Amino acid sequence: MGDAAGRRARRGTRPAIRLDPTALRTFGTKLRAWYRRHARDLPWRQTRDPYRILVSELMLQQTQVARVIDFYHRFLERFPSVERLAKARESQVVAQWEGLGYYARARNLHKLSRRVVREGFPTEADQLRTLPGIGPYTAGAVATFAFERRAPLVDTNVARVLTRVFAPHLHPKRARDQKAIWAIAEATLPRTGRASWTHNQALMELGALLCTARVRHCGACPVRSLCKSRDQKTGAR
Ligand code: ADE
Repeated sequence: MGDAAGRRARRGTRPAIRLDPTALRTFGTKLRAWYRRHARDLPWRQTRDPYRILVSELMLQQTQVARVIDFYHRFLERFPSVERLAKARESQVVAQWEGLGYYARARNLHKLSRRVVREGFPTEADQLRTLPGIGPYTAGAVATFAFERRAPLVDTNVARVLTRVFAPHLHPKRARDQKAIWAIAEATLPRTGRASWTHNQALMELGALLCTARVRHCGACPVRSLCKSRDQKTGAR
């Protein structure tokens, strides 16, 4: 084993991946064009209200889209703004979360609402990370979907899409591969925050509709021509 490889192996990190700039641009252009034609019309895609987007993202962390839609509308009817949420008692918030499970999300959301009312909503991913219960994915999601920041975001679906397309040797769920996967997500982002909104929604949509964990619909995929795992059998990562 060479020196560099030995050091990397001991650190448990991987070498930076070389990504072809033309492939990155083509990937983004094709992905966003596909999204404009095929995206689902979901309620949290029609708003830039950071509170509403945060509620949707927290609900979507452990729950399917179809189930979240009902809860999302009911929760926002009961607590239509971050100020109204901050005024409620924690037990009322948890009660409204009933049925979604993972109640720490509701308690964190409530705690966070009081801080946001005092200090305002952070607009950058690294500031959003400091809020209770907000990890790197949710911080990226709120920065890009509410504030149209040019921020990367990686959840399991996005990690699966990016590793299949660009780096099949990485594992979407392996801890030591996360840094490299986030770097790929960053490298695929378009220049503007506005386009990054569409880009990030499109990455998630491709993972939800075509490039799923169970089935790969490569025949319908807009980025098939540059995908390093195209037409592989289901079962392979
Ligand atoms: N899951 C998490 N965020 C989502 C979004 N914005 N659209 C669809 N599914 C999601």
